[in-house]
Order: sequence, then C-alpha cells, then structure tokens
Amino acid sequence: MKNATWSGRFKKSLDKEVLEFSESVSVDHLLFDSDIKVCMAHAQMLCECKIITKSESNKICKGLQTIQKKYNDGKLSLSINLEDVHMNIEQALTKEVGDLGKKIHMGRSRNDLVSTDLRLYLRDCVDLILKKIKDTRYAIAITALDNSNVVFPGYTHMQLAQPITFGHHLLAWHEMLQRDEQRLDSVREVINVMPLGSAALSGTPYPIDRKSVAKKLGFKTISANSMDAVSDRDFVCDFAYSCSMVMMHLSRISEELIYWMNTHIKLVDIDEAFCTGSSIMPQKKNPDVPELIRGKCGSAIGALTSLLVLMKGLPLTYNRDMQEDKGIIIASISEVLSCLNLMPRLILTLTVNQKRALSFSKQGYSNATDLADYLTMKGTPFRDSHEIVGKIVRHAELKNTTLDDLPLKDFNKFSKIIGDDVYSAINIEKSIHKKIASGSTSPVNVKKSAKKIYQPRIINSLYFENNNFGMFHDSIEGLTPRKKIRIR
Ligand code: ARG
Repeated sequence: MKNATWSGRFKKSLDKEVLEFSESVSVDHLLFDSDIKVCMAHAQMLCECKIITKSESNKICKGLQTIQKKYNDGKLSLSINLEDVHMNIEQALTKEVGDLGKKIHMGRSRNDLVSTDLRLYLRDCVDLILKKIKDTRYAIAITALDNSNVVFPGYTHMQLAQPITFGHHLLAWHEMLQRDEQRLDSVREVINVMPLGSAALSGTPYPIDRKSVAKKLGFKTISANSMDAVSDRDFVCDFAYSCSMVMMHLSRISEELIYWMNTHIKLVDIDEAFCTGSSIMPQKKNPDVPELIRGKCGSAIGALTSLLVLMKGLPLTYNRDMQEDKGIIIASISEVLSCLNLMPRLILTLTVNQKRALSFSKQGYSNATDLADYLTMKGTPFRDSHEIVGKIVRHAELKNTTLDDLPLKDFNKFSKIIGDDVYSAINIEKSIHKKIASGSTSPVNVKKSAKKIYQPRIINSLYFENNNFGMFHDSIEGLTPRKKIRIR
C-alpha cells in the first residue's frame, strides 16, 4: 500500500518489512492528545491570519474533537501504514471533514510538529514527576520528624565516624530530591519553547502567527531559528539527565536501605509489603524494591547515553535517526515514575531499631571528636587536641575500654585540663543536642527543618485519605506506554 501523504513521486510502494521497521506509531501514539491540541491551535491561528475561513477552522476543530472521541472510545485505530501518529491524525481528519483536512498542514511540517507534540507531552511528564518527588519529600519530612531524636551511626568511608540523628540522615535524602526538583523546573523551561511554524527546516511563506499558537498551547516563547528548531533535541537530553539524577539519588537511598537491612546490621527494617521471600530458603526476607530501584538506575543512565550518542553525529537539520528519541526517553520516564510511586510509602513505613542504632553509634570511639572539641573549647588549639585525643584513643584501645569508661586519672595522663565534666561532654546522647549550628544534626534542627517542609494539610489529603496510602495511584496511565494502544 502506498503512503497517501508522500507517495506522489514514488512508483513502488514501501517494502512491507521497511514499513514495519520504520514505523513510529507504536511509540508515538502516546502523542495523540498532544497532536490534537497542536492541530487545533494551528487551525485556529490559520483562521486568525485569514489563511483559512472561520467556518473551515471550526469544521477542522470539530473534526479533530470527533477523532479524539473516537480514539478514546476505541473506535479509531492507528495504522502503521501511515508511519506515525501525525499522519494517522491527518488522514483521519480528512476522512472526517473531507478535503478540507488536507489544509491543516499549511505553514508546518512533520519535523516541527513532532518536536512540538513531544514538548507538550514531556511538559506533562515533568509535572507528574515533580508531583511524585514532592510526595517523596513530604514522606521523608514526616519520617524525619518522627525520628528527630533517634541516635544513629554516621559513616565516612563506610567506617563509623560520628553519631547523628536518623532524622538528619533522612533530611539529607530530602536535599537530594529538592535539587532534582529544581533541576526539573529548569528542564521545564527548556521544553517550554515552541518550534511549530519552522516547517521542514527553512520556515514558511504563509503569513502565520506563531506567537498566537504558542500562547494557545501554553508555551512561554517560540524558537528563534527554524533550522535549530527542527533539529534540536537538547530538551530530551536535559530531561534524560534529570531523570538519571533522580534515579541516581533513589539508587543511593536504596543502597543504604539494603545495607541497613543486612542480616548482620539490622538497623532499619523495610515493611514486609515491600519485600519478598525465597523459593528455597524459608527464612529469607529480601529488600527487593530498593534492589530493583538500584537496578533500574542503570537504564536511566543508559537512556541518557543513548540520546547523546543518537545526537552526536547528526548534521542539521532533521534526520530520521531522531525518531528513536521518543522510545528512549519515555522508557526512562516510566521507570522514574514507577520508582517514585513506591518511594513515599517505602519511607513512611520504615522502622528503626533504636537500641541497635544507639549501641552501634557508641562503638569505634565515635565520640573522639567530641573529646577533641571539649579540649579545644577549654583553650587547647584544635590540632593539639586532635593529637592528644589520638593518643587517648590508642591508650583506651590497649586497655580494651571505651572513652566513656576510661578513668579520669587516665585522661589526665594526656591532658591536665580534662575534668569530671568530660563524661557528659562525650556522652553521645547529649552531644548530638549540642550540634545546633545551622545544617547540623541536633534534634532541634531536624524538627525545625522537617516542619518547614512538612505541610500537614497536603500530607493529610495525600497520604491518609482513601484507606491508607491510596493517593499514590493517580497513575501514569496516558502518559506512558502502559496505556493500551490500538494499532492495526
Ligand atoms: N515519524 C517521524 C518521527 O517521529 C516523523 C518524520 C518526519 N519527517 C520526515 N522527514 N520523515 O521522527
């Protein structure tokens, strides 16, 4: 079968295998709603600019609405014979309103249309991801508030370093996600530029009003150069980078959860609903969800790499290679969304073994820095305090005792200024309360920061309505390939 849109100069029809090889509708059907919106705005503008009449524009818009309804009702299927969603819609329109449908392509081409549709679609995806990140941030804040007093081991080099509060650790995760949110906000700006009206590559002779279309579609500005407009996929790469960053952060969080849940560590437990057992070892409770999140991060980074490699050798302007961009970014987006969907509940249902966390925090002379600070506050220069405490730790190690249990006379062998008050200064449960400089781990700070993030009104409706955590299911349907597609 010949392609009605471009077959004029061809004698043969497209090879059947080439047709299957080159179609994009199996992916770009997701742009259906965006394409309809863009077509309507374009038709209205053609009328405003007196390129078509009011009644023609009305007919086209009505026709587009009918097509959309038919598609949603399952009465219109898309055909790979027409390659992509754009040509399917144009043909359906022509069937609906007659030859008038053929006028919709004035002043535009598929090259600028693809990019415009994709931008609209990705803008919605950014908004959905932003919403899910907010959910996760709020879940973190709630859990941090609950755990603001819980003493927990803090590590550098995976070695116990200093005690912290568990809430403080959680709020570190919050910061990562907040940066992701800011990054996505700026990606939204990059996406929000309208290429339509650039036509194939050189622009158009029709007296169109691109700004009017941009306004109707909610784009902030229009692109400045028609050649760049049809060949630019920076917005896709930027989005893929932001998705990778989200996933990298979720993966680091997951790694910590997995490690904390380790049989020998057992600092934190993940709710059973997020774990699986083993088919052979009856005792097993495995942290599958964080493991999968950690695993899925690889595909997100892979998507970014694929897109950069896809683009790196392309000369201006449109090249068919670019058709591959959609499958790559959409797969990445649906992974990010599926991970973010689970994350809030996973965090809200964590339980900390507080006794273990406290006893771990006391091991390994983790209060040595507190002792150095004690000496420094009594007038010893910090570098000297460090040296003295190093020697005290070695002495305690040889005596096989902790700093808390070391007699005062032993301390005084190394420094005369150490007094009875040292025991309170190096008491872990007391010392964390002293870290009140802004950004430090004290429970007071954690409570203050968590409350600033935590918005009870939003949380209540988001998290606790509709039988325990029903809210997280305002799903990704319609935005990702999970939507059922009808393709002939
Ligand atoms: N299906 C193509 C894509 O998604 C559209 C092709 C438009 N341009 C062209 N010259 N073939 O990229």
